[in-house]
Amino acid sequence: MRLSVVERAALLDEMEERALAFLVDQARSREYVPVSMLRSRFGFTEKEANVVSDRLFRLRLVSKQLIMGEVSLKPTFSGLDALAIKDLIRRKVVKEVSAVIGEGKESAVYLGYSFNDDPLVIKFLRIGRSSFKNARKLRGLPEREPWIILSTESAKNEFETLDCVKRNYGNVPTPYAYSYNAVVMEFIDGQPLQRVKELQEPKKVLDAILATERVAYVECNKAHGDLSEYNVIIMAEEPYVIDWPQAKKDEWLLERDVNNILGFFSKRFGIEEDPGWALTYVKGEA
Ligand SMILES: Nc1ncnc2c1ncn2[C@@H]1O[C@H](COP(=O)(O)OP(=O)(O)OP(=O)(O)O)[C@@H](O)[C@H]1O
Ligand SMILES: [Mg+2]
Repeated sequence: MRLSVVERAALLDEMEERALAFLVDQARSREYVPVSMLRSRFGFTEKEANVVSDRLFRLRLVSKQLIMGEVSLKPTFSGLDALAIKDLIRRKVVKEVSAVIGEGKESAVYLGYSFNDDPLVIKFLRIGRSSFKNARKLRGLPEREPWIILSTESAKNEFETLDCVKRNYGNVPTPYAYSYNAVVMEFIDGQPLQRVKELQEPKKVLDAILATERVAYVECNKAHGDLSEYNVIIMAEEPYVIDWPQAKKDEWLLERDVNNILGFFSKRFGIEEDPGWALTYVKGEA
């Protein structure tokens, strides 16, 4: 039987979790960690070290490789997800992780519940999963940054950007917390803009999106970087801009974001906004 990552996280005991966290901590210096390092770090006997690594391996939270004759371990994406789940539950941010609601190129998005039983969203980033080098190049990141670092730093960036934009009254889901590669935020119960055929006041919606991009750029020093009709959710005629892990200060990205969204509103709703004016506006110069 294939267990979900949530079930596998629940099966992890404290020692296994600490060992897995240690492997993740090592990611900057080595991809695979020899089992002997686990032994010296935690004072395990050989047998104890083998039991812990076998459990992690059977739960598919690590992969194994023989390196210079020694069994060595590397966390998998599920391993990172499991650590985030454990931590978020312990911190009482999340009570329950439920169904998958989105599986993107670089993330898995789950619906979950808070300890007050309010729905929330847990987004697990998987940056560098499919085309490792490409993802890095697109983001202008150094060539050999490991995926664990890329994914955890992207989660932190998404959380901090959402937090700053929200505090400055931009239209984004309220962020609640982040941990490892996961960001927890408000669940927006709506539809992606791409699927919305009609709006009462499309111009107002476009303005709210541009105002959000402006707040992000002027107050938080970040251009969204991937703004499109797929990354805006409409709930009760209000737009919410999602998907900020790649946000960074970059005038070229800002211009591309603005052109993308103006192009969509022109095609779908016949709204013509002057791109020159819009760019000056989001830069905070108008
Ligand atoms: N806060 C939220 N509330 C409701 N649904 C959300 C929320 N965040 C994400 N989703 C859903 O999950 C999907 C993927 O989220 P997001 O765009 O942040 O990640 P992604 O990795 O870029 O995915 P994709 O590659 O599909 O764009 C969204 O299209 C949306 O359907
Ligand atoms: Mg997206």
